[in-house]
Amino acid sequence: MSVTILDGKQLAKTIKSEITKEVAQMKTIGKRAPHLAAVLIGDDPASQVYVRNKVRSCEQVGFKSTLIRHDASISEAHLLNIVKDLNNNPDIDGFIVQLPLPKHIDEQKITLAIDYKKDVDGFHPMNFGRMAQGLPSYLPATPYGILQMLERYNIPTAGKHCVVVGRSNIVGTPISILLSRKAKVGNCTVTLAHSQTQNLAEEVKRADIIIAAIGIADFIKADMVKEGAVVIDVGINRVEEPSVKEGYILKGDVDFERVATKCSFITPVPGGVGPMTVISLLMNTLKAANKEIYKD
Ligand code: GUN
Repeated sequence: MSVTILDGKQLAKTIKSEITKEVAQMKTIGKRAPHLAAVLIGDDPASQVYVRNKVRSCEQVGFKSTLIRHDASISEAHLLNIVKDLNNNPDIDGFIVQLPLPKHIDEQKITLAIDYKKDVDGFHPMNFGRMAQGLPSYLPATPYGILQMLERYNIPTAGKHCVVVGRSNIVGTPISILLSRKAKVGNCTVTLAHSQTQNLAEEVKRADIIIAAIGIADFIKADMVKEGAVVIDVGINRVEEPSVKEGYILKGDVDFERVATKCSFITPVPGGVGPMTVISLLMNTLKAANKEIYKD
């Protein structure tokens, strides 16, 4: 069986150039550029990389971006004030508060404080609820990126059995809902597996489409994968590797080398789902600027 590597990096480039054209078009008709703000608290190394990528990607497509940084000692009240200011700032179309937040800050409280009309992360319960009901909403970045990848590579989903491994609020649970919807990319029969699932390997082996969102390097082994399956790897795990300059390498949740020999499509890590999540954020910000989801 020959395998196709789902090249998220290349696809992200293609979509970025489409967005760039659209932004240029907006500017020619006198509209201002879409404007995304990102709030980064503390100095978590992975968060710094993610936020830097988001801001850089905004610049590449002609968006305006604002980065608001504070050290980890910021009080919850102060952060709530920053959120309030962003909610009320008419120059900002959408914004994100990068997670995780320091332990003394209640993430749920911060998420609820964000105006759902500017919640381009799609984390607010209003957007999550609308998504679950099939109403227009901002879709969370990773699930939205996966949908775009399946669509652009013309991977059939209707009637397929999809097994999602991992039930997080930002990946596993929303992608399980989205893939079961009656939609162009959807109509799957979905199993949502998690740490309490019995006979996990057998469940995964039944899948036509596997979404691995566990957060454990090389968790999905070749003997858990059906011949010809589509494998989407959401994991970005830092694994110690003293021989490289950084001291670590990035590994997905899938044992790529061995699984790739038996599946039909697979995403690499890095360069698979990761770049697509940034694209989703750009697309949501564009929708926010055009008031596509919420009219006023
Ligand atoms: N932390 C990990 N992924 C995300 C994301 O998509 N958005 C935000 N705000 N924080 C994250």
